[in-house]
Amino acid sequence: MGKPVISIRDVFRVYKTGIIEFVALRGVSLEINEGEMVAIMGASGSGKSTLMNILGLLDRPTRGEYVLGGRSVSALSRENQTKLRSEFIGFIFQQFHLLPRTPAIDNIELPLLYRLDISGRERHKMSRIALDRVGLKGRERSHPTQLSGGQQQRVAIARALVTNPPLLLADEPTGNLDTRTGLEILALFQEIHREGRTVVMVTHEADVAACCERIIVLRDGKVLSDAPVGKRLNAAEELSKLPPLEVQMAEVAQ
Ligand SMILES: Nc1ncnc2c1ncn2[C@@H]1O[C@H](COP(=O)(O)OP(=O)(O)OP(=O)(O)O)[C@@H](O)[C@H]1O
Ligand SMILES: [Mg+2]
Repeated sequence: MGKPVISIRDVFRVYKTGIIEFVALRGVSLEINEGEMVAIMGASGSGKSTLMNILGLLDRPTRGEYVLGGRSVSALSRENQTKLRSEFIGFIFQQFHLLPRTPAIDNIELPLLYRLDISGRERHKMSRIALDRVGLKGRERSHPTQLSGGQQQRVAIARALVTNPPLLLADEPTGNLDTRTGLEILALFQEIHREGRTVVMVTHEADVAACCERIIVLRDGKVLSDAPVGKRLNAAEELSKLPPLEVQMAEVAQ
């Protein structure tokens, strides 16, 4: 086992809307070690996105401790949080969150624009490497509106990878994709994980979670269970078991 990348202790998140308070996380404690691939599951409203946003430094706990990469981040200033996030974390959203009328390559370069230590030339080079890495060579000038859902998710993954972060967080990365495209994206995540990165992803689907090594289930803002995956799925292998695309098309045509 590697050392912990993520360590949270007794984390609460209370949302306040007017005089109404809602406790979305009620005392979550967990550790995720370097190089793990972890799924977070749970019913809608159980607190998965709330937890991911805190882990990704997009939000703060109302109470509780967060240690990221050995460093307490609960009390960091916003500026330092942003800086740490840009160096340490790649975040991928279900809805891709791309700029629709901006070429793929410029979308990918975005996180590097905060990095004043990197020259423009180097930024272009890094963006191109990330674009190639996710299999989108030749599509650098395409706008997200001209790409399929799977290709848009690849752009979002390239954008998350461009800073070369050790930790990748993804909130329902395959939620908007069909089975085949979802498996392709999962195969890419498994490759990225094999390169030595820590990957944490939220999913509703048991098959997607089975591609990870460990499954944490939330219920009503608490950890219900946390267990290793018994029989791990290999997404590339599952993909090869699907009927060829032409057969599927022919079935649709009939
Ligand atoms: N900004 C907010 N203000 C008030 N309540 C919120 C806010 N964001 C989330 N909540 C509430 O907190 C609870 C947990 O929300 P969260 O988005 O973390 O759930 P989730 O597990 O990601 O659900 P889903 O599977 O539908 O994405 C829900 O009851 C939700 O209504
Ligand atoms: Mg959610």
